[in-house]
Amino acid sequence: MSEPADQPICPVLPLKDTVVYPEIVHHLAVGRTRSLAALTAAAEKGRELIAVAQLDPAVEDPGLEDLHPIGTLARINRIEKHEHGAQVIVQGLRRVALSRDQREADYLGVSYRELDTVAVADASDKASTVDALLRENQRLAQQIANVLDSENGDQIYQQFVGSIADPITQMYRIASLANLTVEQQQMVLAAADSLSLMQALHNILTHELQVIELRRQIAEQARDDLDQQQREHVLRQQKRAIEHALGEEGEDEDIAELKAQLDQAELPESIRKEVDRELSRLGRMSANASDYQVARAYLELIAELPWHQSTEDQLELAHARQVLDEDHYGLEDVKERILEFLAVMKLNPQAKAPILCFVGPPGVGKTSLGKSIARAMGRKFERLSLGGLHDEAELRGHRRTYIGAMPGRIIQGVRRAGVINPILMLDEIDKLGRDFRGDPAAALMEILDPAQNQEFRDNYLNLPYDLSHVLFITTANTLEGIPRPLLDRMEVLELSGYSDMEKQAIARQYLIPRQRTEAGLDESQLNISAQALQQMVRRYTREAGVRELERVIGRLARKRARQVVEEQMLEEQIDPELVTTLLGPEKYPSDKARDNLTPGVAAGLAWTEAGGDVLYVEASLTQKDDKVTLTGHLGQVMQESARAARSYLWSAAEELDLSRDTIESTGVHIHVPAGAVPKDGPSAGVTMATALYSAYTGKAVPDDLAMTGELTLSGLVLPVGGIKEKLLAAHRAGMRRIIVPRDNESDLSKLPQTVRDELNITLASTLKEVLTGVFSN
Ligand SMILES: Nc1ncnc2c1ncn2[C@@H]1O[C@H](COP(=O)(O)OP(=O)(O)OP(=O)(O)O)[C@@H](O)[C@H]1O
Ligand SMILES: [Mg+2]
Repeated sequence: MSEPADQPICPVLPLKDTVVYPEIVHHLAVGRTRSLAALTAAAEKGRELIAVAQLDPAVEDPGLEDLHPIGTLARINRIEKHEHGAQVIVQGLRRVALSRDQREADYLGVSYRELDTVAVADASDKASTVDALLRENQRLAQQIANVLDSENGDQIYQQFVGSIADPITQMYRIASLANLTVEQQQMVLAAADSLSLMQALHNILTHELQVIELRRQIAEQARDDLDQQQREHVLRQQKRAIEHALGEEGEDEDIAELKAQLDQAELPESIRKEVDRELSRLGRMSANASDYQVARAYLELIAELPWHQSTEDQLELAHARQVLDEDHYGLEDVKERILEFLAVMKLNPQAKAPILCFVGPPGVGKTSLGKSIARAMGRKFERLSLGGLHDEAELRGHRRTYIGAMPGRIIQGVRRAGVINPILMLDEIDKLGRDFRGDPAAALMEILDPAQNQEFRDNYLNLPYDLSHVLFITTANTLEGIPRPLLDRMEVLELSGYSDMEKQAIARQYLIPRQRTEAGLDESQLNISAQALQQMVRRYTREAGVRELERVIGRLARKRARQVVEEQMLEEQIDPELVTTLLGPEKYPSDKARDNLTPGVAAGLAWTEAGGDVLYVEASLTQKDDKVTLTGHLGQVMQESARAARSYLWSAAEELDLSRDTIESTGVHIHVPAGAVPKDGPSAGVTMATALYSAYTGKAVPDDLAMTGELTLSGLVLPVGGIKEKLLAAHRAGMRRIIVPRDNESDLSKLPQTVRDELNITLASTLKEVLTGVFSN
């Protein structure tokens, strides 16, 4: 038979825990965004999609390499959308082999080849074997149904399987009902002819039946054991009651064990007293009283909490330096500061440890630097995420009188660490919430205050616990969300975004070797050329940190691993062309977000939690009565900047060579297109004025020029924050000419030299200077 041609691209619905079969109707729950997009795309064209199981259900965004090679073309019968996704009913049509993937913007598409339909061969010599297996499988399925539901098993079997005429469809139905693993289901789907299908299903069902029966036996056994336990328990209680009456209080083994554990913990005097009181209370309780478990869990916590155990600090500076360098590229200032701090600890062990706060965009190494410090000092490391935490009790615990009470995260962290002096990293403290359940920031203040945290009280523990040996490191994306008093207690260290060159160096020295090992490749098999790396940095990622870059490298390594396994070759270097073949089309094919701006458009620079970003301002003239219209969800301050900009242009019209008539006789509409950027703050003032000026004069702003700065009503340009991040973002976005407020000049020294060399930076203190800079050539 000739090879059928590949079918055109079809949307894919990846399945985590099931397989769709031809002729069978399936109800599927769809939750992932990309899967929902695939559904929508399919619903729009022909209602057909390919349902195919994932190799690993944990992969959230699978590509072709994460899917089983054989899936099922299916028709959508119905989609019911709900809050968390959708419920779909699909009817399987034909088996298909996936061939090539094509990542559409928001879902995965593949081209595919239809496979032959499996049918029962009637005249061949295998017919009798197939027939025998068919009946055997029917019997097994019936038996399984009966073991699972002894009352209605027969009826269920009849209704779902017996009613189907076609034997192959019957087998598919059995495979989809029998609670099989995805691998087993896939085996049935992959079977190319009736004999192998029957055979595969027979093996699976035989095994399954054995497992189910075994499970039933085990469950019965367990029930017997439980009865036995209850009996013992009652007897023990009676024994205790008798002993109590006779005045010879004996201790349960359980309690004895706990006591031994507590003895070992070498508790401080005052705590020992409290513990003894609780222990004797426990002895008087009946072991199945609900209080018993609560008291027991409490004592267990005390026994497990570290009261004395600590690790010895390794404060050798040369060693620390080496570890820090081993783990991270660059970050000189931060490393220096850490070494200074270690030096102080060495000279004066009594000194209060500072609370460090690492601030910077995502993926610049805040968390991993914390781990590295722990490694350098030889301390235990525990990380707690505070993002979205509203409830003070999460930090400080609930009183034990609450049902299901637990200690707070701090005590849990120390318990996990098992020593009194771990490094506790409090991640995302800028994302702390605050509501009626209390103010976690206030609790945090007490926790971090060296004057108070020697006697930290967790509501659950309800005993003083000494946190003063803990080294706290906090992280945040911005300082904005952090309450002032909390901020005052911390020593802020900024980690800013990386330039292209820095990213490439980080990739070479850290990310590539790591991903290479992950994928099981050696150096010759994953040998990435300089151009290819640059392309990955510029064309596949656009971020301040290197997290996405690491992901892209990981993806490349996995694709490469597959090539190596399938084609057994490859010593060649990976060049840009091969990168595109392996990773698909470039995500950011052009440097610049926009080419050839029309008059009225100007690029500004914004500073966000994710680093910096280029933000376009568009102005156009409208009829007079409109005055100033603003759209694009602008904040109050930004709206005011827009009005101020127009007023200033009017008042300085002559000086700026503008016609006052035009300004008076037209209204303006200023729009800042959507984007993930929160649009407020004064730093777009200069950009607004430039966009307006360009609209009034019809002169276009060069497309490689971006600016930032606050504008006063008298035309002065005031300094703004986040210059380094903004300029890095501008550079990333292909901007080469930048205008910044003169008063920000000192911030420019923080830029990496390679970036500075490529940027033509103009300093301006008045709008006039800005406009000259923009339009002079
Ligand atoms: N300078 C660097 N040298 C080597 N690796 C780095 C560097 N900066 C970041 N990385 C690597 O990048 C990855 C992401 O870093 P990390 O998770 O620490 O980011 P983060 O700053 O904590 O981000 P977030 O704010 O999202 O939590 C890690 O694998 C880290 O090792
Ligand atoms: Mg982090």
